[in-house]
Amino acid sequence: MKRILVTGGCGFIGTNLVKRLLSRGDYVIALDNLYCSDISNSEIFQDNPNYLFLNRDVRDSFDDIRVDQIYHLAAPASPKIYMKDSIYTLDTIVKGTLNALECAKKNGARIIISSTSEIYGESQINPQNEDYNGNVQPMCLRSSYDESKRCAETYAYCYYKQYGTDVGVARLFNTYGPYMSLQDGRVVTSFIESYINKEPLYINGDGNQTRSFCYIDDLIDGLIAYMDSNISGEAVNLGNDSEITINTLADVFMDIVGEKLRIEYKAAVENEPYIRRPDLSKAQRLLNYSYKAALRDGLKNTLDYFEKNYKKDEE
Ligand SMILES: NC(=O)c1ccc[n+]([C@@H]2O[C@H](COP(=O)([O-])OP(=O)(O)OC[C@H]3O[C@@H](n4cnc5c(N)ncnc54)[C@H](O)[C@@H]3O)[C@@H](O)[C@H]2O)c1
Repeated sequence: MKRILVTGGCGFIGTNLVKRLLSRGDYVIALDNLYCSDISNSEIFQDNPNYLFLNRDVRDSFDDIRVDQIYHLAAPASPKIYMKDSIYTLDTIVKGTLNALECAKKNGARIIISSTSEIYGESQINPQNEDYNGNVQPMCLRSSYDESKRCAETYAYCYYKQYGTDVGVARLFNTYGPYMSLQDGRVVTSFIESYINKEPLYINGDGNQTRSFCYIDDLIDGLIAYMDSNISGEAVNLGNDSEITINTLADVFMDIVGEKLRIEYKAAVENEPYIRRPDLSKAQRLLNYSYKAALRDGLKNTLDYFEKNYKKDEE
């Protein structure tokens, strides 16, 4: 039985990953300070003897934990949350990654660092492949997240080169699904929150900006395939390579709920990238990864999850 540490293990991706690893029979330690998640995501697993929750902060060393593998996910991930306290964001991503790499080094463990498509910034190429170096501003509202993730990647590369640490960097693109936080301000949850509260769908800008929405189950497949591979010292994109506008997302959403909803357009968010689509050929070649979930199915599962949980809160 492997001992696997998931930092940020109570967040959206963390909870889905913990669930999958436990179902596979691993021993899983979820480390999280609950900065932007809820203890209820840990309580789901509390009766499982192979699960341990540690309420700890990745900004402090955690190399006392004995592990074989580490998925390093801890970070405030939604713009609404990471912009609230930029210094916290910088510290968590930079120091947290350093501590995660130290933990891996001390244990001789394999580690996957979660990076982001945001390291490509306002991309001048589409789709974005791993050789593109990005177009990122060091001084703007999004910089605390984008630049610290770039620094996290550099830490990963340097640990690989200097200490031989067995590390992979996963560049994650927009992902959605059950166990997201309804109030995190990301577009899928924002639509669902509006629908549940009978409000209009809010869209920033003209809605012609594009995103490629990845359903969580595919992302978890990709992360586990990466961990179980022997690919080290590399960055690999993971996500969905089919791109749609936010207006199209709204149309599909209305189709699923079977209602014509009012759309309210708001000011575009400063420095928000206009296009976003991963080139997945490296993931396909190295990890045999390809995206599978249909948008309609993923959105329906996510909506069902929130409707069920919303009703629970109401009772
Ligand atoms: N969800 C996406 O679409 C997406 C896209 C690109 C990259 N990512 C990356 O994937 C990772 C997970 O994202 P998510 O969507 O699950 O985010 P999330 O906000 O749902 O989860 C992040 C978790 O990290 C925890 N955390 C924050 N600061 C911490 C600290 N100092 N110490 C310990 N725990 C801390 C939070 O409490 C939360 O449980 C992040 O690193 C994010 O940057 C996510």
